Amino acid sequence: MKKHIAIFASGTGSNAKKIIDYFKHHNNISVSLIVSNKADAPVLDIARENGIPTLVIDREYFYQTTSILKKFNEYLIDFVVLAGFLWLVPAYLVKSFERRMINIHPALLPKYGGKGMYGMKVHQAVRDSGEKETGITIHLVNEQYDDGDVVFQAKCNVEPEDTPQTIAKKVQQLEHRHFPEVIEKLLQSP
Ligand code: GAR
Repeated sequence: MKKHIAIFASGTGSNAKKIIDYFKHHNNISVSLIVSNKADAPVLDIARENGIPTLVIDREYFYQTTSILKKFNEYLIDFVVLAGFLWLVPAYLVKSFERRMINIHPALLPKYGGKGMYGMKVHQAVRDSGEKETGITIHLVNEQYDDGDVVFQAKCNVEPEDTPQTIAKKVQQLEHRHFPEVIEKLLQSP
């Protein structure tokens, strides 16, 4: 039976694109819905180019209703991937997708996570603290920011000459290399 993924993304969508490309011709996994809280998010164009349905949400829809669960039923969604989605996931959704929802974070959690810790802020904090290494964390989603069980981490070195920008590049390479494969492994494990 085919497994159907929904991806939530609001940033540039580079991870969502990697995941879409990776599963494009996959036998039993498909990216079946792209959700964004930004109507002009580049990821929505990527979805349209690939013929993937999209859903733009606002706070009221997401927090005051459970309508997204109906949408998920419609698209047979089994698994949810947060790829650059910064809103806290409401309890009804966490419960419905317990152990079937993951997030990627651009640091080695529990360091440099939590509300307000995203994108370049993370890499700046890593640089300012003089860390010798950083990396990525893929974790299950619970009702707190960046807090669920860790399912995967990968590391890279931080050299003295690194800037937040060069750290961001190294971390993004790790994300693009590992995220689709980790999703595939999770969906294929019994
Ligand atoms: C990624 O680096 C992801 O780890 C981060 O947002 C970026 C999205 O990039 N997520 C967080 O910081 C969550 N706290 P993308 O839009 O190019 O995929």
